[in-house]
Amino acid sequence: MPAISATAPGKIILFGEHAVVYGQPAIAVPVNQVKARAIISARPDQPRGWVNFQAPDIGLEKNWDDLPADHPLVLVVRGVLEATQINQPPAMTIRVSSSIPIAAGLGSGAAVSVAMIRALSEFLGRPLLDEDISDLAFEVEKLYHGTPSGIDNTVITYEKPIFFTRKDTDQKGMMEPFQVSKPFTIVIGDSGIPSPTAAAVADVRKASQEDSMLFQDLFNSTGKIVYQARQAIENGDIAVLGPLMNENQSLLEKMGISSIELDRLVQAARQAGANGAKLSGGGRGGNMIALVPKESAQQIAKALTAAGATNIIITTVNS
Ligand code: MEV
Repeated sequence: MPAISATAPGKIILFGEHAVVYGQPAIAVPVNQVKARAIISARPDQPRGWVNFQAPDIGLEKNWDDLPADHPLVLVVRGVLEATQINQPPAMTIRVSSSIPIAAGLGSGAAVSVAMIRALSEFLGRPLLDEDISDLAFEVEKLYHGTPSGIDNTVITYEKPIFFTRKDTDQKGMMEPFQVSKPFTIVIGDSGIPSPTAAAVADVRKASQEDSMLFQDLFNSTGKIVYQARQAIENGDIAVLGPLMNENQSLLEKMGISSIELDRLVQAARQAGANGAKLSGGGRGGNMIALVPKESAQQIAKALTAAGATNIIITTVNS
């Protein structure tokens, strides 16, 4: 039996991170320059039910019996077996690799889950629909990341720009694909500071409990920006997006979720001619994004590197 392989892209949040956890909408787009990949090979030399994981990026090579029951890789396999109603899968090796930086706001965890779910369900001869893939990845995110909104697994599964609203704590969010009338260019700069999203989300929760009036205001104002951004993207009115990004960034700063390194990169991008810039994802560290005129992308990338960015991705947002 030939090996089965599947990939899933990274993602950035263009507008609305954190407020999306509290019911406001957010806009996310896939980033295809980075990918997680899962390759599943049959191991007819081993008994049924034998599963071996190989994840060289994190130095892991183990059979699933040797991993804790709540390890994300084990959770994904169990979830797929349940969803496909298969008790004893044929023996297999699951090899996972990813070029998406870890704990950097680019959705690496969700992308690994989605790539594995896709490859494994296909390997088992019961390929799951996108909706089921996204739901299963969300279940893993919930067990591993506390209170995610569901935006990461959704944009990474569907691989297109989405306008996303979370319904309720345990319910699935609502995704609306929307039209990007005019492509635009984003430069993504990595602060090089790893920052797990779960910790940032927990900190915002704590701060919002301490000053609920202020945070309600910050979340509502973020929601308004997201609606305006959606309209601008649908109308191809890209000039409006830069100032909206800057406004979103100042709300994120007030939520306490930016950092000296991110602020430095945001300033450097604006000074080098970006139309707007903000952190993207959980914040504290990880990546920032800048909306740039296409012809200035390289020059703004250079300015970001000079200001300390450890990695740069230039991407075009398209429908
Ligand atoms: C993470 O990409 C975005 C956050 O809003 C968390 C979430 O929505 O789950 C920070």
